[in-house]
Amino acid sequence: MSVGTELYRKTLLTVAGNKAVENLSLKYGKKLAGKFIAGNTLEEALEEIRVLNSKGIMATLDHLGEGITHLREAALYRDEYVRLVEGIAHSGVDSNVSLKPTQMGLALDPEEGYQNIRAVAARAKEHELFVRIDMEDSPFTQATLDIVRRLHAEGLDNSGTVLQAYLHRTEEDTRDMIREGIRLRLVKGAYKEPASVAYQNTSEVIHQFKTMIRHHLDQGVYTAVASHDDHIINWTKQYAKDRDISPEAFEFQMLYGLRMSEQERLAQEGYRIRCYVPYGTMWYPYYTRRLAEKPANLWMVVKNMFR
Ligand code: FDA
Repeated sequence: MSVGTELYRKTLLTVAGNKAVENLSLKYGKKLAGKFIAGNTLEEALEEIRVLNSKGIMATLDHLGEGITHLREAALYRDEYVRLVEGIAHSGVDSNVSLKPTQMGLALDPEEGYQNIRAVAARAKEHELFVRIDMEDSPFTQATLDIVRRLHAEGLDNSGTVLQAYLHRTEEDTRDMIREGIRLRLVKGAYKEPASVAYQNTSEVIHQFKTMIRHHLDQGVYTAVASHDDHIINWTKQYAKDRDISPEAFEFQMLYGLRMSEQERLAQEGYRIRCYVPYGTMWYPYYTRRLAEKPANLWMVVKNMFR
């Protein structure tokens, strides 16, 4: 990442919480954000997943929402997630579920947040569906790992979480989680974190990312590599090839609306590929993180504004 790109990312992540910017973005961004969002409703999202599945791409379905301010919102999100689980089960699409712990109330009342997540995981278990607990910013890392451990202790082993390569603590967490049999999605990390907890330098993050992937593949643990980065994708393919590790032993994951032709290409090459499909009306924070990750996403938005 160049200094310019890094500055851009930091600036955008800083303004992401700014009300004035939010209002501006809400005014003009909604239509444009559609590129990254599969629709406002569950039904629209399931239809998009059907199309992805027909191209050999699996999905994980996310109902947008984070940073809630009242527990009653968390209860509404929980109910929407139960509907989402039923929707996947009854439509027969190939998809699992992704949710954010703060959307379920973690920041407001950890016990109630846990019970909301538990309700979703329990319903998903009835349908043999997997629930991925997304990882948010570092104040929630430990709490999120604890939630997944508690779900497993209660027999809800259809749940897993995400580890972020940029956090200093991640190498140790990776070892612990592998030992405990908890399935992980591996990512670079999307939030603005201080140097006290996270590597700031891209090459360090890439090094950490590869270490996490290696730990998984070497131990024969199913590996979910979530990245749009060709360097990481090609490195993973080569690492597996060199050690005769089957393409069935790992999957790639990418976000809806990003590198869709690459997603299709990976499927055609015989790799397992899963698309993270968000839907709903609470698209603003998700959308801003996508813009922060890659300036080209912003140019795409600007170009579309004049169409
Ligand atoms: P990055 O943005 O670092 O780009 C590296 C290189 O990849 C670019 O220079 C370019 O070569 C290529 N590239 C990237 N985007 C491209 C594009 N659109 N077109 C062409 N080339 C492109 N984070 C988190 O903190 N918690 C979470 O729970 C999750 N969950 C999650 C799920 C899934 C399925 C994905 C894909 C990602 C996440 N993330 C996440 C986000 C993750 O942490 C990270 O911020 C983004 O994936 C960006 O990092 P990348 O490795 O994708 O490429």
